[in-house]
Amino acid sequence: MIRVGINGYGTIGKRVADAVRQQPDMEVVGVAKTRPNFEASGAVEKGFDLYAAVEERKPLFAEAGIDIAGDVEELVEESDIVVDACPSGIGADNAEMYAEYDTPALLQGGEDEDVVDASFNARSNYDTVAGEDLVRVVSCNTTGLSRLVAPLQEEYGIEKVRATLVRRGGDPAQSGRGPINDILPNPVSLPSHHGPDVNTIFPDLAIDTLGLKVPATLMHMHSINVTLEAEPDAAEVRDLLESQSRTFVIPEWLGLDGAGAIKELAQDAGRPRADIWENCIWGESVSMEGSDLYLFQAIHQESDVVPENVDAIRAVLGEADQQESIERTNEAMGLDEGLAPTRTAAEAPADD
Ligand SMILES: NC(=O)c1ccc[n+]([C@@H]2O[C@H](COP(=O)([O-])OP(=O)(O)OC[C@H]3O[C@@H](n4cnc5c(N)ncnc54)[C@H](OP(=O)(O)O)[C@@H]3O)[C@@H](O)[C@H]2O)c1
Repeated sequence: MIRVGINGYGTIGKRVADAVRQQPDMEVVGVAKTRPNFEASGAVEKGFDLYAAVEERKPLFAEAGIDIAGDVEELVEESDIVVDACPSGIGADNAEMYAEYDTPALLQGGEDEDVVDASFNARSNYDTVAGEDLVRVVSCNTTGLSRLVAPLQEEYGIEKVRATLVRRGGDPAQSGRGPINDILPNPVSLPSHHGPDVNTIFPDLAIDTLGLKVPATLMHMHSINVTLEAEPDAAEVRDLLESQSRTFVIPEWLGLDGAGAIKELAQDAGRPRADIWENCIWGESVSMEGSDLYLFQAIHQESDVVPENVDAIRAVLGEADQQESIERTNEAMGLDEGLAPTRTAAEAPADD
């Protein structure tokens, strides 16, 4: 069993902890928190050992009646690998501690690429991180773009990607984020950081990205144009995207007109926390004009990186090859069951 420590138990950390626990070849050693709050008591209720991330704050846990298993250094020492899901920048500060205990660690997309040995996306570069000490699972947006680029690059070749990212202002619990009533070019100058970030996975890819921020918490929305090196028809591209295990091509008949409806579907499907681990691509938006592909995809910022973290654990430790790991992760999390309710052939119109 691979023993995994989780340092930073917020939006990403708690989801990764649950996903790791579901894996047949992994166990959670424990999770580290800086303070007692609803997430700390939630972790204890789930049976995760809780470690104190900041020594001076340990008495706060005792005052709140929450038992602590030890200090974060003990968690790091006892783990085969640590998933660091601390706020941006703190992962870089923690790198020294991971090195001191000779424990490999996964940082998240909020960290700078120059802090780590390599960046990771399971579909795109699984085989490149084995044996590395510090690996960054790229951000939610970069994960979504990489999953799209990989099959297009392999099948047709890519001349250029142009992507406009309409980003949610904050996650639902981030009460201090915005905008509340505005539409912000963000950043206002080009390129947004996302294009260069995709280049950490695809170094030679020509990609320009523009970013906006809007008053929404549900998902990001990408408006995509890819100039291919071939001229397949739209149906062929759609088939290719449908064949990928972490892209959900939304059939027209589902009537999903936006991110709100996708979240509702995820709730109806019984997904934990209404999470959507897949890229959600509107089927009817997949269009070809000559060699130019156009489509819209929605990305659930809180959860698309979760299966990627699970795969990164195996990839770094050399515990499984790419296909084995992705299949194992998808099966254990229930991702392979898909999001859409199925319909019989008799019910489905020919244009689905
Ligand atoms: N949310 C997203 O949309 C998203 C998507 C992809 C990637 N990411 C990346 O994932 C990373 C984590 O983001 P997040 O959204 O999960 O942040 P988050 O919700 O703020 O969770 C991070 C948690 O880390 C804890 N923490 C703070 N300082 C710590 C320390 N020194 N040691 C251990 N724990 C500490 C905080 O909890 P306590 O202080 O209560 O312990 C906080 O809840 C960032 O790099 C981010 O860029 C985020």
